[in-house]
Order: sequence, then structure tokens, then C-alpha cells
Amino acid sequence: MKEFNIAVIAGDGIGPEVTREAMRVLDLCASIYGLRFKKHAFPFGTEHYLKTQEIFPDVAFEEVKGMDAIYLGAIGDPRVPVGLIEYGIIARMRFDLDLYVNLRPVKLYDQDLCPLKDKGPADVDMIFVRENTEDAYVGAHGFAHKGQRLEVAMQTMVYTREGVERVIRYAFGLAKTRPRKQLTLIDKANAIRAQDLWTRTFAEVGREFPDVKTDHAYIDAACMWMVKNPEWFDVAVAPNLFGDIITDLGAMIQGGMGIAASGNLHPGKISLFEPIHGSAPKHAGKDVASPIAAIMAVSMMLDYLGQKEACASLERAVIELLRSKRLKGVGTGMHKTSEVGQLVCAELRSTAAATR
Ligand code: IPM
Ligand code: MG
Repeated sequence: MKEFNIAVIAGDGIGPEVTREAMRVLDLCASIYGLRFKKHAFPFGTEHYLKTQEIFPDVAFEEVKGMDAIYLGAIGDPRVPVGLIEYGIIARMRFDLDLYVNLRPVKLYDQDLCPLKDKGPADVDMIFVRENTEDAYVGAHGFAHKGQRLEVAMQTMVYTREGVERVIRYAFGLAKTRPRKQLTLIDKANAIRAQDLWTRTFAEVGREFPDVKTDHAYIDAACMWMVKNPEWFDVAVAPNLFGDIITDLGAMIQGGMGIAASGNLHPGKISLFEPIHGSAPKHAGKDVASPIAAIMAVSMMLDYLGQKEACASLERAVIELLRSKRLKGVGTGMHKTSEVGQLVCAELRSTAAATR
């Protein structure tokens, strides 16, 4: 029996609730497909920090490094200084495990979930490759004359040739596997001239992939096209900050933050899977958050761990459930978080039974 060690950080706010459902679904996948997931729970997040002053101790980090994958619910909480837990947990893993690809599929599973007029599942099927270790996120910032009239605040966007090249090469490789074989570079090189490194690297790496069609859009225009003509996008690659922003827009066109999942990858090495939503403190503890995004993060994790069949049938189960319209009220209290998890499990049992 295949065995995988998974570090589970349920985190803050709605994190623990959606993680519980995601793990319920993971356990069912394990029993259907003859897999074994050893879950190692880590308590890190705001609550743990407030109790212990501990964010992510080095010993725990070393332990996490030895796992096959990491599953994260959500982190962030207004009771602690902005960025403290974010940089201490999620950014630390992205940087110290060198998870340089943030893979964010934007796929519309059901027409009714799309807020765009006259757009359906055939129009919204793209995947973002967000660079995940550089840009404004490296933390190169500072203040002078803090608190005074003449205060100066600065934050540097950092791009390295190696960092840009590897994520672009990954994106080309991914585009090559898709039916449309199209890759769009999204940047703002007309204003942020340092992103000329992206322009040049994209052109150079592109020569290795003659069968991939290339395209380019500035980030502001890309936001417009995403809403106006989402069908223009297949695979898109973007620097960290723009990739962060445009994937929230992407989440909305696929049905909202309750649906969108992501993988933070270092291909071939330990990687991290999470819903792209945050901890939504105002919904915490009420059993109302949609666990679909968290469940789709499980599906991405299964795919990454080589469990293609389990991944595909989980995705099919979620699609079936969404198309059945039984979930219309998710997030509005019609279905509890826990009920949605159970519905996905029921659907998964019948999908799996039908295909095996
Ligand atoms: C995301 C989040 C994070 C980011 C925050 C929590 C630092 O918005 O994963 O998209 O900006 O990367
Ligand atoms: Mg974000």
C-alpha cells in the first residue's frame, strides 16, 4: 500500500473547518484507491502564537521538510500585527522550501457559478503559473523618518534570471501538455522596467518550445480581458504580486473564493497545497464556509503525488455535485461546511463506483 506523510496545518479562522472536510475527503480517497496518508498535525497559526509566542519553530520546520506534502487551511488574523503570521508561516515555507511555482487553475465547473454574462465552462478554463519566491515579496523594504511628515517608505521588487527562467520554463512545459498549447506572459514591463528581464527570458525560453503559441498582456489589460474575454487565456505566467492579484479575480470568475485551490510547488520535491482564500475571521466557527476550495486543494495534492485516478474522480465528483445545483446555498447557510464535505464524499463514492 502506498503511504504518504502529510503535514497538516489547519491554521486560523475558517482554516480548521475547511481542513476537516478536506481531510475527510482525503481519507475517503485513500480507502477507495488503496492509499495511506499519515497526517501529521501542526498547531501553528495565530491562536498558537497568542498562547505560546511561537510562530514556526525550527525543529517543526525540519520535521515538515521530511514529509511528502504539506496541506494548509488558511492563516491570518487581525489580532496580531499584519504580516507576522503570513511571513512566519506561508512565506517561510514558500521561500525556505523554494516552492517557486504557485499553480492556480481557474476552471469554471458550472455555468451558474460564473458572474460573467454569456460565459460558460468552455470559456473559463485557464491556469495561472504565479512566480512564488521573488518580486515585492522578498521583504526588501524599509522606512526612513518613521512617523514624521517626511517619512519615506520603500519596497523593492526583486527578480533574478534564475528565478524568472525556471518559472517561465515550467509554464511553457505545462502549456505544452494542454490541448490549446498557449502561454500568455502577464507583466507591467512598460512601467516596471525591471520586468524587461521577464520579456527577454520569455522570448529566449520560448525558442525551446516551438509548438507553444505565445502571447503577452500587461497586467491592467489582462484584468480587463479576463472579464471581457476569459476564453483568450489558456496558461498564463506572471510575477508574484500580479499573480496574487489576478488569481483573486480568477477565483471570482470561476465561482468565488470558496472554489479556488492552489499548489505551491517545487517540482519533484515537497510541495504545499492550500485553498487560495484567506482565514475569513468573520465566518470562523460558524460552519458556513465552503470547503470546496480546500477539497480541490486535496485533488491537486493527489495529482502531485502521482495519484491521477483519485485526483480525476475527486474532480469529477465535485463537478457533478456543483452541476446538480444541490449546493446553491453554500456560504449562505443553506448548507453547513460539514454537510458539503459529506455530499462530496457521497458523490465521490458513486463516481468511483461507476468508473472502477
Ligand atoms: C495568497 C495570499 C498571500 C499572498 C498572503 C496571505 C501573504 O494572498 O496566497 O494569495 O499574498 O501570497
Ligand atoms: Mg492572494
